[in-house]
Amino acid sequence: LRDGVRVFELTAQEGRTAFAPGIETPTWGFNAAHLGPTLRAARGEQVAVEVTNELSETTSVHWHGMHLPARYDGGPHQPIEPGGTWRPTWRIDQPAATLWYHPHPHGATEEHVYRGLAGLFLLDDEYSRAASLPSEYGVDDVPVIVQDKKFDDAGRLDADSEGNEVGLFGDVVMTNGTVGAYHEVTTERIRLRLLNGSTARTYQFVLADRPFELVATDGGLLDRPVRMDSLRLAPGERAEIVVTMRPRERTVLRSEDPDLGGVAAPFAFGGNDSFDVLQLRAAERLNPSPEPDWQYEDTGLAEAEATVTRTFELQNREINGLRMDMNRIDETVTVGTTEIWEVTNSHPVSHSFHIHDVQFEVLPVDGQAPPPELSGRKDTVYLEPNRTYRLIMRFEDYADPDWPYMYHCHMLLHEDEGMMGQFVVV
Ligand code: C2O
Ligand code: CU
Ligand code: CU
Repeated sequence: LRDGVRVFELTAQEGRTAFAPGIETPTWGFNAAHLGPTLRAARGEQVAVEVTNELSETTSVHWHGMHLPARYDGGPHQPIEPGGTWRPTWRIDQPAATLWYHPHPHGATEEHVYRGLAGLFLLDDEYSRAASLPSEYGVDDVPVIVQDKKFDDAGRLDADSEGNEVGLFGDVVMTNGTVGAYHEVTTERIRLRLLNGSTARTYQFVLADRPFELVATDGGLLDRPVRMDSLRLAPGERAEIVVTMRPRERTVLRSEDPDLGGVAAPFAFGGNDSFDVLQLRAAERLNPSPEPDWQYEDTGLAEAEATVTRTFELQNREINGLRMDMNRIDETVTVGTTEIWEVTNSHPVSHSFHIHDVQFEVLPVDGQAPPPELSGRKDTVYLEPNRTYRLIMRFEDYADPDWPYMYHCHMLLHEDEGMMGQFVVV
């Protein structure tokens, strides 16, 4: 804290990481050789970040899921030159959630994220503090950043997606930058904050031998915990789950045969792939943990409040027939308006749709409530082929005609190739 402002320093830098014994490979990270620190702030706090770029190329840092002024959003319009420092500052004004940060330079996001530039940004509020949930960071409240990587024959990180329609797909899954990750569990319940930080791969998380409770999605806590056996997360999505353990038990969080929803050639999108993600090893004796329970304010938006409907059609590298143009504003939103965005994937492959600035809710599809992992506040959603989702959101604050926010496919090769548009809030 500096004069009541919570100040963070992030330096994007090059380094070397040994993912396998004796083999070091160049990687990028924030304040480290690979990945970045977990940032944490509370609702109501003013935060300021000093982001320094020590890389030899231009990057940017975007606060994924954060409600903040567009000029501090960290998208393609806020590049940080090599040697430069960028100083965004904003007040945290949204519910407690697991957000993340990553580069967003136009045309190079996939490579920058893949090389290791990513970290979590956790938000707390009065409800999350009063919640009866495991909450000791690193002990029973654990980040699980899941990313796949590929290595060449010499054991070096291979960041080449050329000639690949889908993007960078790796055959090695890492958790928090570690291959074969495990966690020693010392409590009866453990909360895992899952982030799909991969550039292209969708995961289907399961525990080898038990269900788990879903407690939060992208934008924060659900109304109540939901018992589940399996949970799909597309690139950019997050979820918090609580797992119950008994003394001396072992279990493993895996990703198994993701249900990609009718994609042509699912094997090309990882539809037949399975990986261990995190082994959980319970100690001889476990400290008691309470049943998950919390009270939450009602944040639901009613369809009747929406006064504007927009439609977005995702095709091959295009949204509504257009590729990203830094000099074109695609949509103009009036501040204080509740809108419905109807998003359709009319392409026979996977896409994942993300909107900056807001958290939205997924409206019922064909009269059916969305599945639990699409409930609550969301900023990213997996789009099956030939599927339309209706998303409702409210644009509050920060009217500014000069700086746009983005919406885009979060499969990062697609984003880089132009599957992105810009909106201003005025
Ligand atoms: Cu996580 Cu526009 O990105
Ligand atoms: Cu974002
Ligand atoms: Cu896509």
